Amino acid sequence: MTHPPLPDLIDRPRRLRSSAAMRSLVREHSLRPADLVLPMFVREGASENRPVASMPGVEQHTMDSLIRTATEATERGVGGVMLFGVPERKDAEGSGATDPDGILNLALARLRAELGDATVIMADLCLDEFTDHGHCGVLDADGRVDNDATLVRYREMALAQAEAGAHLLGPSGMMDGQIAAIRDALDAAGHLETALYAYTAKYASAFYGPFREAVDSSLQGDRRTYQQDPANGREALRELELDIAEGADLVMVKPGLPYLDVLKDVAAASPVPVGAYQVSGEYAMIEAAAANGWIDRDRTVLESLLAFRRAGASTVLTYYASEVAGWFQDGLPAHLREFA
Ligand code: PBG
Repeated sequence: MTHPPLPDLIDRPRRLRSSAAMRSLVREHSLRPADLVLPMFVREGASENRPVASMPGVEQHTMDSLIRTATEATERGVGGVMLFGVPERKDAEGSGATDPDGILNLALARLRAELGDATVIMADLCLDEFTDHGHCGVLDADGRVDNDATLVRYREMALAQAEAGAHLLGPSGMMDGQIAAIRDALDAAGHLETALYAYTAKYASAFYGPFREAVDSSLQGDRRTYQQDPANGREALRELELDIAEGADLVMVKPGLPYLDVLKDVAAASPVPVGAYQVSGEYAMIEAAAANGWIDRDRTVLESLLAFRRAGASTVLTYYASEVAGWFQDGLPAHLREFA
């Protein structure tokens, strides 16, 4: 084809995209199963698994299926599992959270007994699954979430989880001072090795919608007095500074894709490893679009996970963790190989 004369020097980045081998040579980021953490739900008194309708492929597990599925994920090489409990009974204090025979603590103990140190066993440390009002803390006489009274409960919950055998506790309630309060309780009881994965920048997000179904949440209202305003970036760095000063071992940004800017800022400033949580609504969106044939599901999944790595996350909590780890174990099919 003839065309008008071109400038003498055109810079040509396309050279580095010219073949699969060339692209592979210059690829900056990749995924490994060990980067991925699988969040799981275990339901008290369940005799069979219950599917979560808004999260196709995700279930509330019975104890046995939790153990089976976590074992399989471990064999596939996932970095860890994050457990959430769905109790039969809820009350104002969230008693089930601190009861050693509560579903979450029982499940942690079973899992630790089965898996030992083969994977990192993590526990959501928050009261919302256990309270009848559905808030992440206890309420004062006016019905407001009482920060410091909640810290007392978090300390008790941390001890119950550490004693059950969790390696890593994930305080997700966004109470002020929660990391310091929990660290202090753990240290005083001799749980020096139990680590804290702080939900550092956690936003009051509509993307948690399907999760509320997954844990049978009884929340009326919202969490805007404790979770961050989606309009704000700066306070994520303030929360980071506090969590680091208070003793966080890892920090997390949540949700994931809508907050990649926050993730990048936190990753640049953090002296400890940073994770991202691809939350229930992100999962649901991919599944819904894929079910309609509107996107290539598997490529979308891997592209979204890779985006977290690019933005600076070392670990990614994702409901796809075990499935993706399985793809790696089996050897990625050709059309997905660019993500390895
Ligand atoms: C609180 C908690 C939530 C999620 C993880 N931990 C819900 C909330 O803050 O309302 C959401 C996870 C998801 O949407 O996948 N225990």
